[in-house]
Amino acid sequence: MAEKILEVVNLGTRFKTERGVLKAIDGVSFDVYRGEMLGIVGESGCGKSVTSQSILRLYDEKRLAVYSGEVRFEGKNLFDLSEKEMQDIRGEKISMVFQDALSSLNPVFTVGNQIMESLMIHRKISKQEAKNRAIEMLGLVGIPDPQRRFYQYPFELSGGMRQRVMIAVALACSPKVLIADEPTTALDVTIQAQIMDLIVEMNHKFDMGVMLITHDLAVVAETCKRVIVMYLGQIVEEGLVNDIFDHPAHPYTTGLMDSIPKLDSKKGERLHQIKGTVPLLNQIPTGCRFAPRCPYATDKCHEKMPELVQISPTQKVRCHRAMAHTAEEF
Ligand SMILES: Nc1ncnc2c1ncn2[C@@H]1O[C@H](COP(=O)(O)OP(=O)(O)O)[C@@H](O)[C@H]1O
Ligand SMILES: [Mg+2]
Repeated sequence: MAEKILEVVNLGTRFKTERGVLKAIDGVSFDVYRGEMLGIVGESGCGKSVTSQSILRLYDEKRLAVYSGEVRFEGKNLFDLSEKEMQDIRGEKISMVFQDALSSLNPVFTVGNQIMESLMIHRKISKQEAKNRAIEMLGLVGIPDPQRRFYQYPFELSGGMRQRVMIAVALACSPKVLIADEPTTALDVTIQAQIMDLIVEMNHKFDMGVMLITHDLAVVAETCKRVIVMYLGQIVEEGLVNDIFDHPAHPYTTGLMDSIPKLDSKKGERLHQIKGTVPLLNQIPTGCRFAPRCPYATDKCHEKMPELVQISPTQKVRCHRAMAHTAEEF
């Protein structure tokens, strides 16, 4: 097995709001390995972005967020570091790419400048070296004519090109971990595939661990080896993509799979949607969090929260029914 480069242990994230303290992430633990593409899926509102932003401690800890648990990286718990020390981690060792490149890039600086800036903050290199590296990065992420593009502003580029620039900024310092949070959601379908190909190519080239966050299980199926399924601030299933597609253990995972459009589906055939919506944080059910939407829920499911249990060397699930089935098989 490859080297473990990031360990999230029992992560909890609470938000202080006008309506009281709301727990957005509850006991999330997982590892990221060098060189792997790890998919994190779940519908909108399941806590994917809060998990990734908490890893980098991006929320204001005085007014908004309270973290618990640990994020272990290079022998340290990131929650023990000072803000100054965190700044050395962000962008250099652990980088992030967001959905919306236009609002993440600075409109008043050229794209070349923004890549240079990331390099000059973290590396002791000359301006000329930074410029050369920035142009190299623009070429690497597939931007044609990088010498000329270096001097352009974000608004002069298409959505796809801007996302490539974001990736160049994120990778300029060769990070160990790249967190890509819905990196293609805002793009046209054809461009989405190109950007996903680029992320996979960069994953190989830089040998980093990539956390690919998406609401689209189909994207994970094409790009990742391992996947974590999140529901309402918890992990409900984790395993190898092949195993999970062959035999999903959690009804929520099955629901997500059923909502992927199939090539051979008949015209007009409706996709199965999971009924209902993800509850708000002030309406978290007491038992299994998915029970109110689950077609198999029993009294036990409504009363008692299931634990996340290892059902094979590579698969974990949080579901009373799946546990009962596994027990029968063994
Ligand atoms: N700054 C915030 N303050 C309060 N609640 C928040 C904040 N950010 C996110 N949440 C809540 O946390 C939950 C998880 O959100 P998020 O991680 O953004 O979901 P997603 O899986 O779509 O990325 C949601 O219920 C969302 O409303
Ligand atoms: Mg999100």
